[in-house]
Amino acid sequence: MKALVLAGGTGSRLRPITHTGAKQLVPVANKPVLFYGIEMLVDAGVTDIGVIVGDTADEIRAALGDGGGFGAKITYIPQDRPLGLAHAVLVARDYLAEDDFVMYLGDNFILGGIQDLIHNFRTERPDAGILLTRVENPSAYGVAELDARGHVVRLVEKPTNPASDLAVVGVYLFTPAVHEAVRAITPSARGELEISDALQWLVDQEFRVRSTMINSYWKDTGSVSEMLEANRAVLELLEPRVDGTVDAESQIIGRVRIEHGAVVSRSRIVGPAVIGAGARVTASYIGPSTSVGADCVIDASEIEFSIVLAGSTIEGVGRIEASLIGRDARVGRADHLSRTHRLVLGDHSEVQITP
Ligand code: DAU
Repeated sequence: MKALVLAGGTGSRLRPITHTGAKQLVPVANKPVLFYGIEMLVDAGVTDIGVIVGDTADEIRAALGDGGGFGAKITYIPQDRPLGLAHAVLVARDYLAEDDFVMYLGDNFILGGIQDLIHNFRTERPDAGILLTRVENPSAYGVAELDARGHVVRLVEKPTNPASDLAVVGVYLFTPAVHEAVRAITPSARGELEISDALQWLVDQEFRVRSTMINSYWKDTGSVSEMLEANRAVLELLEPRVDGTVDAESQIIGRVRIEHGAVVSRSRIVGPAVIGAGARVTASYIGPSTSVGADCVIDASEIEFSIVLAGSTIEGVGRIEASLIGRDARVGRADHLSRTHRLVLGDHSEVQITP
């Protein structure tokens, strides 16, 4: 069995972070989201992995390399434009050949592994397998409708009036039957070849599309709030460890990982939290569910429930909460007395200021 990992696309809901980087490489607990997916595939014994890449191909290649570091063999498959998930299957036709494969959306985040899922698929070998989970906002996802026996009868992509609360999770299992389906469908109203339509085609042609409910934690990390939530969930499982330096005036409470070369002085860190390699935290408070990236400087500031990417500086500011701060960003206090804010923000940035 092969894997097809989708790491193209645009990431518009994570702007401005995605102006300068791939959304699949935004870190959760200081590790790119995509790495969790690749590791999960390798854990499930799937090591022959095709990775779909688009505009951010160079960055994805630099991060994953040839896959050796993960115990995998990675083949890169360029997709000229993000024309849909089913389009990605079309462009990967030669790579996939006549093999069964697991398709994994690179911005999806699952805790708990997919070994059982792959095992069951191999044993029963339906024509396709999808994973479902109950969500509060089904309109944001592909939505499945099941009959009384639990068989998939309908799949609709982001319906305005969803027929159920069963969202399709971004892990799909396919036999080569899917290749006929992706050739048969036409682009949706948003101009994409939808994998939901390809699955619907299989259902209509009476291929067996099996659904499995997942009970484990799952998040599509396409938006800032979802990223922060995934970060929170992973940090809950963090193995506490101090590889850096913590002075006697600092307090470390709960699950906290201080990575190699990080220096914490006169600060209070309440876990779960991670302080990245080479970061400096001085006279500050780092609160729960916070990941501070490598080489960041946090000085005389407070930050909680947030992700700060590598190389950023936060100096002399009050409490920052529920924030995603990009690489090499600077947040600081104005030198003058008037109550003004000075901002240099990238396109599509978002700032909320307390009056
Ligand atoms: O997360 C689950 C949802 O994923 C499903 O419920 C939906 O049925 C499915 O269509 C998909 O919806 P999204 O709108 O979240 O898909 P998104 O455009 O975010 O793309 C998912 C991943 O695939 C992402 O890592 C980018 C990549 N991608 C996307 C497109 C459209 C590509 O590599 N190529 C593409 O052409």
